[in-house]
Amino acid sequence: AVLILLGPPGAGKGTQARMLERRFGLVQLSTGDMLRAAVAAGTEAGRAAQAAMAAGGLVSDDIVLQVLKERLAQPDTGQGVILDGFPRTGAQAAALDAILAARGGAVGAVILLEVEDAPMIRRVAGRFTCATCGEGYHDTLKPLRAEGQCDVCGGTEFRRRADDTAETAGARLAAYHTQTAPLIDHYAQAGVLRRLDAMQDIAAVSRDLVRLVEPTL
Ligand code: AP5
Ligand code: ZN
Repeated sequence: AVLILLGPPGAGKGTQARMLERRFGLVQLSTGDMLRAAVAAGTEAGRAAQAAMAAGGLVSDDIVLQVLKERLAQPDTGQGVILDGFPRTGAQAAALDAILAARGGAVGAVILLEVEDAPMIRRVAGRFTCATCGEGYHDTLKPLRAEGQCDVCGGTEFRRRADDTAETAGARLAAYHTQTAPLIDHYAQAGVLRRLDAMQDIAAVSRDLVRLVEPTL
């Protein structure tokens, strides 16, 4: 199965993709994570992506498709994949359709995480993740249960993303509305779009998501 989580920065794509991984044995494929790894490793793709990411704009389709195809070529795509943060432009959606068609497949479901703009800046600006296992947290919305310790793995080191400032979050939201939101129609016309109220708390979003996803697996 190929599932897509569609929604603006802070909608909860990463949080819910990790839930689906644990629950259904799917593999999360986040182009944001792939690009951040490329930047950290100093690869050619990473050097080309860095400036756009820091400014909150989209990285070029060529570079994104290059890192995604490299990742898809690896064998561990499990019971299926959850695309988190991809596709983000019409050209990326068309490329994905072509890649899947070549394998005799198609997009199984696209879940649109519907949210309001203003609270998204707050979600993004307070976010941090466990450096050991990658679990996501938030200063006030999802704090650590034990001070200084990851709930999942007990790790004590945490990271904040360089682009998680209120200023850059605004640019990222604008990029979503102009370049990514048109994909909603593309997938509605293909008959695979499902809408989910992602202003609810994390547990309620997870519950609705499981209900939507389970029948498509
Ligand atoms: P990417 O890494 O994809 O970031 P993003 O889309 O901005 O999404 P986020 O990771 O910010 O949000 P999320 O929806 O995963 O929310 P989360 O679950 O963490 O992209 C980064 C950059 O890379 C882009 O700006 C671009 O430059 C580049 N890029 C990546 N892919 C690209 C592509 N395909 N093409 C071009 N460029 C690309 O949740 C946020 C916070 O809220 C967390 O703290 C969480 O605990 C909390 N939270 C989650 N759900 C809830 C809830 N229901 N209620 C309350 N709090 C919640
Ligand atoms: Zn951890």
